[in-house]
Amino acid sequence: MNSTPAPYTVLITGASSGIGHELALRYLQQGARVLVLARSGAQLDLLVKQFPEHCVAIPVDLANVDESQRAGEKINQLVQHLDLVILNAGTCEYVDATQLSRAPFEKVMAVNWWGTVNSLLFCLPLLRKNNSPTMRAQLVGISSMASILPMPRSQAYGASKAAVEYLFNSLRVDLANEAIDITVIRPGFVKTPLTERNDFPMPFALTTAEAADNIVQGIRKRRWLVQFPWQLVWTMNTVALLPLRMQVWLLCKISRT
Ligand SMILES: NC(=O)c1ccc[n+]([C@@H]2O[C@H](COP(=O)([O-])OP(=O)(O)OC[C@H]3O[C@@H](n4cnc5c(N)ncnc54)[C@H](OP(=O)(O)O)[C@@H]3O)[C@@H](O)[C@H]2O)c1
Repeated sequence: MNSTPAPYTVLITGASSGIGHELALRYLQQGARVLVLARSGAQLDLLVKQFPEHCVAIPVDLANVDESQRAGEKINQLVQHLDLVILNAGTCEYVDATQLSRAPFEKVMAVNWWGTVNSLLFCLPLLRKNNSPTMRAQLVGISSMASILPMPRSQAYGASKAAVEYLFNSLRVDLANEAIDITVIRPGFVKTPLTERNDFPMPFALTTAEAADNIVQGIRKRRWLVQFPWQLVWTMNTVALLPLRMQVWLLCKISRT
C-alpha cells in the first residue's frame, strides 16, 4: 500500500465477485485506497495485482467470529480510519416450504446477518475515527428489493435483508449526532454469480456495471435509500401498498405462472 495517506479510504466486503468486485474497481479507478474482503483470497489478489499501490486484500470468512476479529485487528494496523464502508458480502439460499429445514436459514443468516454484524464491530470504530473537516464518514448496507414483499421461497433471504435494513435504519437513529451518514441499497436483479443459479425469470435484470453506476451515484449523493431499477422499484413498491391479502394473491398468481 502507498505509505502516503490517500484522501479516501474505502472498505468493501464481498469484493471477490459480482457487485462488490465492480464497486471495488470503481473506487480504485477513482484513486481511493480500497480494502477488499471476502473468502476467496486468490480473487482479491487479482485486484491487488491491478492496483498494487491502492488495494489491500483481507481474506476472511465474515460469518466466522474469530476470523472476523482477526481481520479487524489487521485492518486496525493498516489504517487509522475509514471514510466509506460498504457491507456487501452476501449469499442466497431458497427455502422449500414443503420440506422445511434449518440449513438454508443458518447459511443465509450466517453471512447476510452475522457477517454484517461481525463487520460492523470493527468498521464502526474506524468510521468514528474519520476526522475530516470536509467529508463525513459513510456506512452503506446492501439490502435487496426482496425485503419489501413476501417473495416465494425467500423466507431466509428476504428475512435476512429485512433484518439488515432494520439494523441500518435503527443505527441511523442512534448515530444521528455523529458524523456518519448511513445509506441502504436495495438492488433489483443483477447478473452475478449469485443470480446465475436462479431458475426463474429476472425482470429488468442489470449488469454489475449498471448496478455499480446506481450505487456509486447514490453513495455520492448520500441518499438514505437507493433503489433500482426504477421499473421494479415502481412495481414492487406499488404492490407493497396493497392490503396483505391482495399482495399474497398477486404473488401466488405470479409464482404459479
Ligand atoms: N445479484 C442480485 O440480483 C442482488 C440483488 C439484491 C441484492 N444483492 C446483494 O448484493 C450483494 C452482493 O451479491 P452479488 O450478487 O454480487 O453476489 P456474488 O457475486 O455471489 O458476491 C457475493 C460476495 O460475498 C462474498 N461472501 C459470501 N460469503 C462470504 C463470507 N462468509 N465471508 C466473506 N465474504 C463472503 C463472496 O466472496 P467469497 O465467496 O469469496 O467469500 C462474494 O465476494 C449480496 O449481499 C446480495 O444479497 C444481490
